[in-house]
Amino acid sequence: MCGRKRSTGQIDPVGCRRRAPAIIPIPPNERTPASMATSPDPATVALHADDDLESAPDVSPPLHLATTYRADNTAGLIYSREETATRRRLEAVLGALEGGHAVAYASGQAATYAALRHLRPRRVAIDRGYHGTHNILARLHEDGLEVIDLEREPGEGDVVWLETPKNPTCELEDIAAHARRAHAAGARVAVDSTFATPVLQNPLALGADVVMHATSKFLAGHSDVMGGVLVVRHEEQARRLRTERSLLGSIPGGLETWLTLRSLRTLSLRITRQSESATRIAAWLEGRVPRVWHPSLASHPGHALAETQMRGPGGVLSIELASEAAARALPTKLRLFAEATSLGGVESLIEWRRRHDPNAPPTLLRLSIGLEAPEDLVADLERGLGG
Ligand SMILES: Cc1ncc(COP(=O)(O)O)c(C=O)c1O
Repeated sequence: MCGRKRSTGQIDPVGCRRRAPAIIPIPPNERTPASMATSPDPATVALHADDDLESAPDVSPPLHLATTYRADNTAGLIYSREETATRRRLEAVLGALEGGHAVAYASGQAATYAALRHLRPRRVAIDRGYHGTHNILARLHEDGLEVIDLEREPGEGDVVWLETPKNPTCELEDIAAHARRAHAAGARVAVDSTFATPVLQNPLALGADVVMHATSKFLAGHSDVMGGVLVVRHEEQARRLRTERSLLGSIPGGLETWLTLRSLRTLSLRITRQSESATRIAAWLEGRVPRVWHPSLASHPGHALAETQMRGPGGVLSIELASEAAARALPTKLRLFAEATSLGGVESLIEWRRRHDPNAPPTLLRLSIGLEAPEDLVADLERGLGG
């Protein structure tokens, strides 16, 4: 079953073994901010980086749900907590997209926790951002981890944790500048790049040591999968992360792994469209509501940095209304935006952020722009805002 007819006409006897994908990940140091256009394009990478990793004749990846494998298999598979054929394919694609080596997890939170266990810092320097990350840090603080402000000077062994763009205001951090400062002090940099996706930003190329994504968001993209991923520079780091993941059992399920791989095939199209639609909607909203947060706007504090660090401003934006009552009421007046938490799916969502994040301003709403026609979304907002 794993013997495979290659384009050379030879049968490959170990068709399922982990080996170099057809598209070689671009080494991080060859991707600089100045040459942000990736080659091959992420759209192609997402479709072909796993081409050689499985021998089934299916054009699209087969769905495997087995937890255990016959002892005589040539794919080197033993037990699915350790490795599966689909997870190999998913990690090949995610690694190629970020220019590193990927390890997939059961959720974004599981990936964040795994990164912190792997890096074992004495202190973590961090700004605001996703409250779940701060909840993990608060737990680790009980075991002695010190959490310091991002502006403090990092020291030997510290981790600088950047979330950029940041939840929910899409404010940016200068990844290259933080990496220079951290590395000079013997610290390491991890970047939660969930809002950007690898289509819009590649933190390893900018000097980061670890990239984290909640794949539950744009990467899986259909509001039906929980998942996370870490991408690191060296295969040896990835191997250690996989060993620990296998020990702790924080693996994504077979269906989730398959769905995420299926979704990555359209990532480039989806995020490009979502980012463009968010840009149009942010421009329409500016001047109509007291404050709009989206990096496409000249009024946004991250606007200039977004132009050099990212290849697009992203599909999430936030708005502030005149009062908490107005902010709580708007979602109930909309027809196309579902009132729900989360982001990055094909359907547009709106959320009064204070409901889940105690630090969000009470007047703030977060909008995740989906794949509906942007003019329909604008019309929905126009109706909801009262014309
Ligand atoms: C920026 C960011 N990082 C991490 C997470 C955690 O991901 P998950 O919900 O998959 O655990 C989220 C979830 O909303 C997020 O928005």
